[in-house]
Amino acid sequence: MKRLALALGAILAFAFAAGAPAQSPIIIKFSHVVSPDAPKGKAALLFKQLAEKYTDGKVQVEVYPNSSLYKDKEELEALQLGSVQLLAPSISKFGPLGVKEFDVFDLPFLMSDDAHARQMMASPMMADLNKKLEDKGVEPLGYWDNGPQLYTANVPLLMPADFRGLKMRIQGSKVLDAAARQLGAIPQIIAFGELYQALQTGVVDGEDNVASNIWTQKFYDVQKNLTVSKHGRLTYSLITNKKFWDALPADVRPGLDRAVKETTDFFDDTAAKDNEDALNQIKASGKVQIHVLTDAEKQAWIAALMPVHKEMESRFGKDFIEKIYKASGFVPPQT
Ligand code: LMR
Repeated sequence: MKRLALALGAILAFAFAAGAPAQSPIIIKFSHVVSPDAPKGKAALLFKQLAEKYTDGKVQVEVYPNSSLYKDKEELEALQLGSVQLLAPSISKFGPLGVKEFDVFDLPFLMSDDAHARQMMASPMMADLNKKLEDKGVEPLGYWDNGPQLYTANVPLLMPADFRGLKMRIQGSKVLDAAARQLGAIPQIIAFGELYQALQTGVVDGEDNVASNIWTQKFYDVQKNLTVSKHGRLTYSLITNKKFWDALPADVRPGLDRAVKETTDFFDDTAAKDNEDALNQIKASGKVQIHVLTDAEKQAWIAALMPVHKEMESRFGKDFIEKIYKASGFVPPQT
């Protein structure tokens, strides 16, 4: 009798569990524009793994790489509308959000190395800029510095005069636009997802990027020259929709915060090495002529591009630019 009662109890418990509405997981769509093998692509996959683990499956992350869900500009609009929950765009693309200040980080040669770039992005002055994003409904969860930008082109770029008349692809930043014009080039904003084709068909003659993007997107296949110029940085911000993030249940937030922190640490620890390996692989492919700027050439580039710093005082204010110099450790050359 007792056995029967136990069996009946077990059957009832099972039937109840099966009939009870299961708690459906919270879905986070993470859209990005690079290859799954690029530093950001790897970080997105790690975030998925960690977020699902630390929330015991209460959150599920869908990663959409290679602009498969949205391209550059569309993804920012989609985030504000709440159609996607996580992005990690280059901060040189924040103009359309109505926050122009992030373009300042594109001032040529502003951040001389990894240490200065990190010092800059961790400095207390970022709080004001973060607030500006929040006012647009965008919550920055972290900054990922993907290292120095290099130029690729169908002609060798050794001296500033080599840019004259070239059509150069740029990201959306107004500072990048001014820098290209200052060099006598014709800047063109093209979405990252359309860049390979634009280079292949000659819509543009060149572009700048980090080595891992040049490698994983195969830009080296459709460009003849690469200059290790390190004239700028490619910095990402991991951003989410503020309303969505603030409304997350209390039992999942700590797990997600932990996943964000560990993914950021992973990015910081691995991106530089990925870029170094990518440059070696590009070299080994033998497809592009690689030129490392000599000191004299670099000084000539800096001298040619300093007028952009001056020109941008009217856009950002001299005080703001000086604040940025201080935070980044940049010392303008004596003229
Ligand atoms: C680019 O558009 O060149 C980069 O911002 C792409 C990326 O996200 O790395």
